[in-house]
Amino acid sequence: MQENKAEEILKSLEEEYKDFSESLKEAENTKDVENIKVRFLGKKSLVSSTLKNIGKLSSELKPVVGKNTNVYIKKMEEELARKESRLKSIEFDKKLREEIVDLNLPGRKPKAGSKNIISSVIEEIEDIFAGMGFDIAQGPEVETDYYNFEALNTPQDHPARSLHDTFFISDDVLLRTHTSPVQIRYMEKHKPPVYIIVPGKVYRRDYDVSHTPMFTQIEGLVVDKGINFGNLKWTLETVAHKIFGKDRKVRFRPHYFPFTEPSAEVDVSCRICEGAGCRVCSGSGWLEILGAGMVDPNLYRFVDYDTEKVSGFAFGLGIERVCMLRYGIDDLRSFFENDLRFLKQF
Ligand code: DAH
Repeated sequence: MQENKAEEILKSLEEEYKDFSESLKEAENTKDVENIKVRFLGKKSLVSSTLKNIGKLSSELKPVVGKNTNVYIKKMEEELARKESRLKSIEFDKKLREEIVDLNLPGRKPKAGSKNIISSVIEEIEDIFAGMGFDIAQGPEVETDYYNFEALNTPQDHPARSLHDTFFISDDVLLRTHTSPVQIRYMEKHKPPVYIIVPGKVYRRDYDVSHTPMFTQIEGLVVDKGINFGNLKWTLETVAHKIFGKDRKVRFRPHYFPFTEPSAEVDVSCRICEGAGCRVCSGSGWLEILGAGMVDPNLYRFVDYDTEKVSGFAFGLGIERVCMLRYGIDDLRSFFENDLRFLKQF
């Protein structure tokens, strides 16, 4: 009876060992090996429970079963260790191969900053005007009420002031809302003839898809003997064709500005729908690019020019608008977010 029992135990140990060998053969990584170790040698394994229950056996069987069980345990431990070390070195090799550094690969070039599209377009327009004999002038961005409004024929109570959404620094000092104050500053210091453009930043309290609190304008001023509306029209048409291409139509619409009389707004035909009307041009087929007009003689009084001897025209061009029309950009804010992916397109 006891002998049968011993045989039974030894047989089941042998079967367990066979199972173990099968499983170990199939183990693909050290994690599998760990699981096999737990299954065949852990607390709930057959060898553990055999050893735990060995006390219940007769004193003759104890050493036989005990010895055999320990032999299996030793064999399993040795085989596990061998397999584990083999798999470990395979895994290590694999990791090395994955992390290999190819010294022949060219390095990643650091991304260099690139010119903002606004700056490039300003330079391009400056070149066009320089080719027509214009000088480039500058003026301060922090401006006084006098130059921004008063001397531009826009006194305190003038309704046009409310259109400007001005950032005031004090009652009398503000961030310029347009580049037009440089007209006055320039004429104060220079006698006619005047042929200038003034590129620069301007500020208004506004923020949405088509407005940013800072944007860019190019002002233009011509004062000379016998300047008339024909000169204005030819100059602006020529420039518009140079910027947008000869196939664009240009039209002048009557408008109002306090510092010009008569005044006009200038539109170019929409590039996207070729004038048929679309979402970008709000169905009109035209897009406004600038304001212009003949300098109101009232301005000459502020700068001591002789209104009998000279006349002139002026204009103000929105640079972001030019870029939007030329490149089909529909959100003004993208110009100022400094996303290199946006800037690199141009
Ligand atoms: N300063 C005007 C504005 O910001 C634009 C403008 C219109 C400028 C007519 C001019 C001009 O010089 O003659 O809306």
